[in-house]
Amino acid sequence: MTEKRENWGSKLGLILAMAGNAVGLGNFWRYPYQAAKNGGGAFMVPYFAALIILGIPLMLCEWNQGRFGGKYGHGTLGPMVYLQAREGVKPRTAAIIGGLAGAIAFSVTVLLNGYYNHIIGWTLGYSFLSLTGGYMDKAVDTGAYFVSYIQDPTKVIIFWLIALAILGFAVMRGVQKGIEVVAKIMMPLIYVFGIILIIRTLTLGAPVKPDWTPIAGLNYIWSPRWSDLNWTSALAAAGQIFFTLSLGMGIIQNYASYLKADDDIVVSGFATVSLNELAEVIMGGSIAIPICYAFLGPEGMKSGVGLSFIALPNIFRAMGGGQLFGALWFLILFMAGITSAIAMYNYLVAMLEEMGLQKKLGSVIVFGLYIIVGLPVGLEPILTKTADLAYLTEVDNWVGSYFLVVLGLIEVIATGWLMGGKALEEMNRGGYWKVPQWFFTLFIQILTPLTIIALLIGSTRDYYK
Ligand code: PHE
Repeated sequence: MTEKRENWGSKLGLILAMAGNAVGLGNFWRYPYQAAKNGGGAFMVPYFAALIILGIPLMLCEWNQGRFGGKYGHGTLGPMVYLQAREGVKPRTAAIIGGLAGAIAFSVTVLLNGYYNHIIGWTLGYSFLSLTGGYMDKAVDTGAYFVSYIQDPTKVIIFWLIALAILGFAVMRGVQKGIEVVAKIMMPLIYVFGIILIIRTLTLGAPVKPDWTPIAGLNYIWSPRWSDLNWTSALAAAGQIFFTLSLGMGIIQNYASYLKADDDIVVSGFATVSLNELAEVIMGGSIAIPICYAFLGPEGMKSGVGLSFIALPNIFRAMGGGQLFGALWFLILFMAGITSAIAMYNYLVAMLEEMGLQKKLGSVIVFGLYIIVGLPVGLEPILTKTADLAYLTEVDNWVGSYFLVVLGLIEVIATGWLMGGKALEEMNRGGYWKVPQWFFTLFIQILTPLTIIALLIGSTRDYYK
């Protein structure tokens, strides 16, 4: 497993690449509709609780596993858990846990990336259509337009293949020349486009009804409504934290494995979380939700999965400069999606490399797997002539929520209990900030695993209800 070591070229490159890994469709496509659908302010309470109890501790565990495991190999969550665990437990037990985690992580990543790549393709298609005025005619029903878009094999397949080609190209060029370069270009653009769109959103006025203002939309999210708190929104919030921070798959570990042994991880881990949350609650939350509220009012909050692709186009064409602002919105989604998918692709190739395959062959195999698992997503609307995306929704439920949480549990137990005290020592090596012992004990050893177990029991119960 000691093939030639690749490293990050610069600290800035590393932070932008990690932010690119975390900031994705989760922030701009998934978060707004999850928050809106699950009661706005009622969703934000468990959301922040999950950020503190699950998000931050797990982010630290994953950076730690990655840097520690990087001495041996770049990829797999399996061997990393295995190596980390090996210090504290019998090698056989550790090998079983590591192997199992690695196998689940590989499958989960392939399946998730399989549908994720399709959504990236749609965002590229929609950027193009926004600029060229495709849905700008007020007579067009945007719902029907979306359905006809996903049922049009030429558009769907061409934009999907372009997205796949960009991914393959970046991954083949390697960590510094591929991943870092893409992140350095795309990440600043996402934040700049985001700020332009926030300003445009907040100056919309009240285009439909006097009390449907963008600020009222912000209030919908930012006034905590304790009375509406419930188990379903809590689960959705925890799932969103895993999804948006890229936790539970091993892709944070993969990027962290390119660190040097004494590179800081605590401050960098916090920087990743902060940049992601900035892009999620500030940008994701201050664009799509207030725009939707200003034009559609409280009812618009129920838009669901279609919020980005059906509700927003409706609105872009009603506002001044909509063609440009629509294109900017879909380009943000596209760039956010690409930088996350590159992380998943790189991770899968690294896993195959660790099994002894050449990088080129590994990349081709992963490309092939994407085509195979992605095809049902693309074909379903075409063949069934519906747009309910049942396959995508089912896979998203299972891998995007359930299995990420299962893997998160294995990771936190490996760090908190199998490696134990040594994990804290390892985490604090080379850092500007130190994780205090109380945080390690209270969160990583107790609260984080117990909360995940409670979530798994709760969601399993909900599923069979
Ligand atoms: N975190 C990224 C996003 O928000 C991508 C991702 C999703 C990574 C789920 C891992 C798991 O879209």
